[in-house]
Amino acid sequence: MRLDPRSILITGASSGIGRTVARAYAEPGRRLTLVGRDAARLGAVAAQCAAKGATVDTAALDVRDREAMWQRLRELDAQHQFDLVLANAGIATGLRPGQLTENPDAVRSAIGTNLFGVLNTVEPLIEPMCARGRGQIAVVSSIAAVRGLPYSPAYCASKAAVHLYADSLRGNLEPRGVVVSLICPGFVHTPMNEKLVAAKPLAISDEKAARIIRRGLDHGRALIAFPRLLYLGARLISFLPARLVDRVMNRMHVDIQETPERMPGGALP
Ligand SMILES: NC(=O)c1ccc[n+]([C@@H]2O[C@H](COP(=O)([O-])OP(=O)(O)OC[C@H]3O[C@@H](n4cnc5c(N)ncnc54)[C@H](OP(=O)(O)O)[C@@H]3O)[C@@H](O)[C@H]2O)c1
Repeated sequence: MRLDPRSILITGASSGIGRTVARAYAEPGRRLTLVGRDAARLGAVAAQCAAKGATVDTAALDVRDREAMWQRLRELDAQHQFDLVLANAGIATGLRPGQLTENPDAVRSAIGTNLFGVLNTVEPLIEPMCARGRGQIAVVSSIAAVRGLPYSPAYCASKAAVHLYADSLRGNLEPRGVVVSLICPGFVHTPMNEKLVAAKPLAISDEKAARIIRRGLDHGRALIAFPRLLYLGARLISFLPARLVDRVMNRMHVDIQETPERMPGGALP
């Protein structure tokens, strides 16, 4: 299978992985719709993609805003019929050394963005894509979804949820002509994990991540997990006795800053 999407929607396109994937697809004959909240940073990415020959639209949207996402994405899809939707926007949060519990507001924001943000991106487009009998939905999870990490419970939980969500969608949508791809990155050098203090085994650049993601998406892969070795290691670890793995993980020095992001209104969408 070789896919060649002409109209692509990317959330979280103003930074990191979303930005480099947008640039990787930018070429004449392609329309990119870039979503994020920071209009200035989105505009800068749009200009870079346009300079490579793509037609580019930006939409300043908060993926946690279900109503706004539904309305705007339906409007945009009616105009440009998305062939590929990349639900990528996400935030990280976690525990500092010695901290017992995550701030409940930070937890809700991480789940609001990483889980509900993905639902708010994908849900409005399922019916139109199925009606056309074609298209591709790609969801960015993480290798952190495979086995819970003691230092980032909410992040791991949110990524595990979208991992299973994408798995479930695939079985239901592919018989209707819509390809579903699950993306599980390991460590990628982006602003998200700049302040993360931890060993980052097999970390790669955002440019390399974008090349791997684009190749996987073009081939319609069900799972795009990289680096492979880290993904297989995480899978293997999940079969080991849980308390043994906990003991080893607890010996590692990891310091994850709490996200300053908060849910608008303090409640989940
Ligand atoms: N970097 C890694 O090592 C790594 C590893 C595994 C998985 N991932 C996943 O990859 C995805 C991209 O992460 P990244 O490393 O590229 O992070 P990043 O550089 O911090 O970019 C995150 C993007 O998400 C957008 N975003 C955040 N909250 C949003 C909201 N409420 N509404 C709309 N857009 C929002 C941000 O844009 P605005 O601030 O403009 O809204 C930004 O464009 C995330 O889902 C992350 O969990 C990353």
